[in-house]
Amino acid sequence: MRTRVIIYTGKGGVGKTSIAAATAIRSAEMGHRTVVISTDSAHSLSDSLDMQLSGKLKRIDDNLDGIAVDMQLELETRWKEIQTYFSDFLASQGMDGVTAKEMAVFPGMELMSALFYVEEFHREGSYDVVIMDTAPTADTLRLLAFPDIANWYFDHLFHMVKNVIRIARATVGRLMTAPIPSERFLDDLESLRKRLIVVRDLLTDPEMTSVRLVLNPEQMVITETQRAYTYLCMYGYTVESLVINRVIPDDLKEPFFQARLEEQRRHLRTIDEVFAPLRTMRAHLMPKEVLGQDALRLLADEIFGDDDPSATYSTESPMKIFERGDEVVVAVKLPFVMKQKLELYTRKDFLMLQLGAFKKSISLPYALSGRSVVSADLEGEWLNIVFEGEEIGKKKGRRRRGSGDKAGKAPRRDSDKDG
Ligand SMILES: Nc1ncnc2c1ncn2[C@@H]1O[C@H](COP(=O)(O)OP(=O)(O)O)[C@@H](O)[C@H]1O
Ligand SMILES: [Mg+2]
Repeated sequence: MRTRVIIYTGKGGVGKTSIAAATAIRSAEMGHRTVVISTDSAHSLSDSLDMQLSGKLKRIDDNLDGIAVDMQLELETRWKEIQTYFSDFLASQGMDGVTAKEMAVFPGMELMSALFYVEEFHREGSYDVVIMDTAPTADTLRLLAFPDIANWYFDHLFHMVKNVIRIARATVGRLMTAPIPSERFLDDLESLRKRLIVVRDLLTDPEMTSVRLVLNPEQMVITETQRAYTYLCMYGYTVESLVINRVIPDDLKEPFFQARLEEQRRHLRTIDEVFAPLRTMRAHLMPKEVLGQDALRLLADEIFGDDDPSATYSTESPMKIFERGDEVVVAVKLPFVMKQKLELYTRKDFLMLQLGAFKKSISLPYALSGRSVVSADLEGEWLNIVFEGEEIGKKKGRRRRGSGDKAGKAPRRDSDKDG
């Protein structure tokens, strides 16, 4: 059986951890071998489950394991070689030892560890269902965008390391400023890069991985959730459902709640309107904090009823390539986006999409390599990027190869920093 990966994300405090834990418990009770991973350094998953988790897999119940990714432990094991080289390298450049050690923890390392667990669980086939409890939206977007940008990062890294080797060879016996990287280090780097590609492919496979957005019926939360939805689509993730948590029971009679309830009705209508046709699930605001496995079971009842919490509600990929007459269309789902905020560049064999502070590169299939973009328009939720037909492509393609022409009519706006 294929591993099923469910990622819960959303604004801080909306109920991600509680819902991830509730999902995990119910999934295990239904007989799926389940693991819940916390990637939030706050690690409230332990409190939620009333069970101390650590950086190593721990049995919680029949069919249920949990792990709270521990950065220190990951550094000491998974990242040792790479970190050692970097800190030596930085120290050789004049940085003092302690700072060099700290600097050698490059951004995203801990994030990668969390993603590698998913890849390992899948490869080993040890679980049917993998549930990820994540940090608040901004960090999680960074996490989920990571496999995509990491490739670029590694290109630079390889370049740098190769330069060091070249200089080292040229200066043998003379001044040697940087440590020569070991074979082991280079191998580590290369296998890291390969695994990241595997991770990205797993996480953006709509049959396998789904993102569920957790939100509350409140204006600020709705706005942030819309933004997250857009970026998740841009990075190729299939957002398959919404969980609206902390819904105040509508039959409360106390006058104190009436204004609040009225507001909530409005927000619930907004959620229905803006996120349709996404499947939505709901949970009420409970009388008490949701702590411990019994409370989590009640939460699971509210959200899933008798349904299997690991069901897949949508397998629509947010990226499609199709032919339209002579032309080829690369379509990217970008809900809530306004065209003025988008920038699009083409290079020889990839497209670069920029939205606010986030960039996404889309590798083009070989057949599109070198072809020009004739238009880029938003049609509903989809950005359709239209490539010229083959005949013209053949003519122009050779000439334009690698020319890096900018496409689309969206003007550059440096002030759009809404990521
Ligand atoms: N439906 C609910 N009713 C009442 N309390 C809730 C509900 N969902 C979550 N909580 C409580 O709200 C707090 C934050 O929830 P948590 O799951 O940690 O959110 P997040 O992981 O999104 O930050 C916790 O104390 C949790 O017990
Ligand atoms: Mg949490």
